[in-house]
Amino acid sequence: MTISLKVNGKSQQVDTDPSTPLLYVLRNDLGLHGPKFGCGLGQCGACMVHVDGKAAFSCVLPIAAVGDREVTTLEGLLENGKPNKLQQAFIDEEAAQCGYCISGMVMRAQVLLKEKPHPTDEEIRHHMRTNLCRCGTHAAIMRAIKRAAVA
Ligand code: FES
Ligand code: FES
Repeated sequence: MTISLKVNGKSQQVDTDPSTPLLYVLRNDLGLHGPKFGCGLGQCGACMVHVDGKAAFSCVLPIAAVGDREVTTLEGLLENGKPNKLQQAFIDEEAAQCGYCISGMVMRAQVLLKEKPHPTDEEIRHHMRTNLCRCGTHAAIMRAIKRAAVA
C-alpha cells in the first residue's frame, strides 16, 4: 500500500504494509539512519524521533498511525547542514562512547529544552528516564544538555 508522510520537511511516499513500524520506514525506505533499532519494544529510546514536536518511540509506531503529522529525525535538527546547538554540545562534551543511544538522547533532550530552556538537574534526569545508555555515559549526556541549556 502506498503511504504518504512528511519527514524532515519533505513529503515522501513509501510502498509498505500499514503495520510497518515508522523506524523501519525511516531507516530502510528513506535512508535516515539517525534513529536506531535497540529493543523494538519502546523500552530503550534508541529509535526516538519527533512526531509533531513530541518525542515518540518510532519502533512501536505503525506507519499508518502517523497520518499527516510531521516526523523529525536527528538529521532534521541540522541547521544549514551543521549540528544545532544541542547536537554540538553532545560533540563538545564527547557524550558518545559507542554512540548507539545518542540520536535518541538528542531527540529526547531537544523536546525538553524547547519546553524548558533552563531545566534543573532533576528535571533533566526525570525527562531522560525513558532513554538508556548501555555504555554508561549518562554524566556526559547530562553535561551536554546543560551546556546547550546555558549556551
Ligand atoms: S528501539 Fe525503540 S525504544 Fe528501543
Ligand atoms: S554511548 Fe553506547 S549506548 Fe550510549
